[in-house]
Amino acid sequence: LKAKYLGQIAGAADENALETIRLAAVGKKGEVALKMRELGKMTPEERQVAGPALNALKDEINSALAAKKAALADAALDARLRTEWLDVTLPSRTRRQGTLHPVSQVTEEVTAIFAELGFSVAEGPRIDTDWYNFDALNIPGHHPARAEMDTFYMHRAPDDDRPPHVLRTHTSPVQIRTMEKRGAPLRIICPGGVYRADYDQTHTPMFHQVEGLAIDKDISMANLKWVLEEFFSAFFEINGIKTRFRASHFPFTEPSAEVDIQCSWVDGQLRIGEGDGWMEVLGSGMVHPKVLQAGGIDPNDWQGFAFGMGIDRIAMLKYGIPDLRAFFDSDLRWLRHYGFAA
Ligand code: PHE
Repeated sequence: LKAKYLGQIAGAADENALETIRLAAVGKKGEVALKMRELGKMTPEERQVAGPALNALKDEINSALAAKKAALADAALDARLRTEWLDVTLPSRTRRQGTLHPVSQVTEEVTAIFAELGFSVAEGPRIDTDWYNFDALNIPGHHPARAEMDTFYMHRAPDDDRPPHVLRTHTSPVQIRTMEKRGAPLRIICPGGVYRADYDQTHTPMFHQVEGLAIDKDISMANLKWVLEEFFSAFFEINGIKTRFRASHFPFTEPSAEVDIQCSWVDGQLRIGEGDGWMEVLGSGMVHPKVLQAGGIDPNDWQGFAFGMGIDRIAMLKYGIPDLRAFFDSDLRWLRHYGFAA
C-alpha cells in the first residue's frame, strides 16, 4: 500500500491529480480508512501491531502529499517566471506630455511674485455688464474711452431688458467686484483674459492682463513704485530694475501714470534692465474717489493704487517673442522653439 501510494504521489502531474490520490488513500473513505475499520475485527495482539503501522502509513502518505504539493507549486512558479519575464532594460514607450501654455506659465510666475509681496488673487467674469466695465470705473456712457477700447458688445434682442453686457475690455472691473465683496483694506491682483477688437503684430482680440489693487489708510504712489520695481526685478531676474513714471490719464485713477521699465537695444537685441532706454509696460495711478465709492468704500477713509499690465506683453519681453499672435496659433513647433512644450 505504501509503495503504491508513494509511487502515485511522486508521479502526480498537478494538484488535481494529487487530490484524487489523497482521497483514495487517506480520505474518509480511502483505503487506509478501510484498513483502520478492519482493526475492530482483529485480535488485540494483531491490533497492537497493525494500529501503529496504519497510523504511521497515514502520516507518511500525508507528508509525501504535502511535500509533493509544495514541489508542484514551486514548479508552477518557475514555469511562470520562465514565460512571464520582462526585459527591464528595454527603452520605454514614449508618452507625450502636455505642458502649460506660455501665458499660463507667465501668469503663474506673476501670481507667485505678487503672493510674496502680500497680494492675493481675485477673479471676475470675462463677460460683464457695461456698468462694471465702464460706469463704475468713472467711464460714463458718452466717454470717448468706450469707443477707444474697441469693445465687443453682447447682442441683445430688442425686448431683452437685462443690462447690456460686454466682453470685458480690461481687468479693472474686478477692482469693483472685489471692493464690493471684501471691502477695505485690500491687496489683490486679478489676472485674466480681456477682449478688444484689434489685430496686428502686437494686438490680438483676446489677450491677458493682470490688475493690481492696494487699498489702505495711507497707500501712496511711492508704495506703487516700490511694488512695481520689486515685481519687475523678480520677474526679469535682474536686481534693481528702474521704472519711470510718466504722467498720463485714465478715468479711474487720479493722478495717473504710465510706467516704463529700463531697457536698451544691443545689436538689435532688447536688454531689459540695462542702459538708458525705456519700454512702456503698464498703466497705473491712485484709485479715483468715484471708483472707491462705486465699490462701496468710503474715499474719506481709504485710498489706494491700481495698475493694469499686459501679461502677454511682459511674456514677449521676457522671452524675446516678436509677434503676439504666435501665442494663440497653437503651433507646436513654435511652442517647442521657445521651450514652452516638450
Ligand atoms: N485698465 C487700464 C487698461 O486696460 C490699465 C489700468 C489699470 C490703468 C489700473 C490704471 C489703473 O489700459
